[in-house]
Amino acid sequence: MTPFFYSCSDNEQEEACTDPKVSAINPNGDSELALLMRQMYLDADTIKQHILKNEGNITDEFIAKLEQVHSAIPTDLSVKTPEFEAFNKLLITTAIAAQEDGNDKISGFNALVARCIDCHQSFCPGPIGRIKKLKIVIPI
Ligand code: HEC
Repeated sequence: MTPFFYSCSDNEQEEACTDPKVSAINPNGDSELALLMRQMYLDADTIKQHILKNEGNITDEFIAKLEQVHSAIPTDLSVKTPEFEAFNKLLITTAIAAQEDGNDKISGFNALVARCIDCHQSFCPGPIGRIKKLKIVIPI
């Protein structure tokens, strides 16, 4: 693992989103969901650069990845609750809305990032600081 990424299962208390005892079951392997989330983070960052250069927006491929969240196996199986599914649905709905309304790509993208953070507040607070950096801040 590169220092750029920290996992939810890091032992540092404030970054952890899973009980260290639970993540110890899978000490060095990353879960399917963790790997997918990392890709989503990198893809979102690429989409951000495209929006900033006015060269693109949220893509169908990105939305297809968000749909995989539903079935990807997490480090801690107990996260897969109805609430988790509801957060995932909201994420997908927001991404589709932002894709369809291409007028204000920046607001659409920032709404998407807000949905990432909503779920993370309940299920995985560790990476929130990094996810916040995805937000597009418009220089005044
Ligand atoms: C439905 C809830 C939910 C949503 C929505 C969500 N996440 Fe996650 N995320 C999680 C959970 C749970 C984990 C922990 C995965 C694991 O350890 O198996 C995680 C892990 C991560 C990680 C850490 C991966 C690692 O290295 O271990 C990153 C980064 C991340 N998410 C980014 C994002 C981004 C960016 C979005 C929005 C595009 C997003 N997440 C949306 C629940 C969510």
